[in-house]
Amino acid sequence: MWATLLYLALAHYPIARTNHLNLEMRDMEIPTRLIESLQSAKRVTVLTGAGISAESGVPTFRDAQTGLWARYRPEELAMPEAFRRNPKLVWEWYARRRERVAQANPNAGHLALVEMEKRMPRFKLITQNVDGLHRGAGSHNVIELHGNIMRTKCFREGMVIETWDDTGETPPRCPRCGGPLRPDVVWFGEALPADALRAAIEASQSCDVFFSIGTSGVVKPAASLPYEALRHGAIVVEVNPDETPLSPRATFVLRGLAGRVLPVLVRAT
Ligand code: OAD
Repeated sequence: MWATLLYLALAHYPIARTNHLNLEMRDMEIPTRLIESLQSAKRVTVLTGAGISAESGVPTFRDAQTGLWARYRPEELAMPEAFRRNPKLVWEWYARRRERVAQANPNAGHLALVEMEKRMPRFKLITQNVDGLHRGAGSHNVIELHGNIMRTKCFREGMVIETWDDTGETPPRCPRCGGPLRPDVVWFGEALPADALRAAIEASQSCDVFFSIGTSGVVKPAASLPYEALRHGAIVVEVNPDETPLSPRATFVLRGLAGRVLPVLVRAT
């Protein structure tokens, strides 16, 4: 049974044998078995997190916050309760993130996934990112699990709102009902979009190769997807410069930055 609400989970997983490879140190060799698996794969599914956008200058969610925001934890701002308590603060935090996203361009990691999609017959890209950079890069089969920061919706009625009057109020008001506007992203304690979650689970259960790229694997239900893929017999590949709870269970771990590892991987296949 899948939980549909967004929540933080820190779990311990049993250690299993993994082919760890430090791509920075081993001159970017991709294991032959991984190349062969990719070449024969009928379905490939990719899950990405904030790490893939880090090289585009979008700070990861758990990166240290700076300046004015240093005293807030992102998890405490990304909640309906925080918005109810202080809508101006939350709106302004997201406005700042939106500015960073608007200035960002897709990087080599995003582009490598566009190339992978072209080569693979059945390719699904599940992302926890709300920055839209995968579509911006040219990926088509994208499942956005946590919404999109560039969209705005009404906090009261949930409808996506395209335009509103600038009355100088923060946050601005919904032109339909007068409720406060908020970013169209999933906050902690809120439900993920049901269709997107269903599609993500299906793509994880039915693939031959599953990639987990640039995600700390601590926010559920997305963090459960690689385990679902493993349970259904897929090869699971992690791309991350750091250890995560998934690392001991992944079939292959490619230690390095997505923008460096993924182009090498795509060229090798
Ligand atoms: P996190 O910020 O938790 O984790 C980012 C991961 O990316 C870490 O494991 C880093 O080691 C890794 N990383 C950093 N730079 C990288 C690079 N260049 N290449 C590859 N990996 C790199 O972000 P998420 O796992 O995405 O939800 O967090 C999940 C969700 O938590 C987010 O989608 C966000 C938050 O709630 C919403 O905003 C709705």
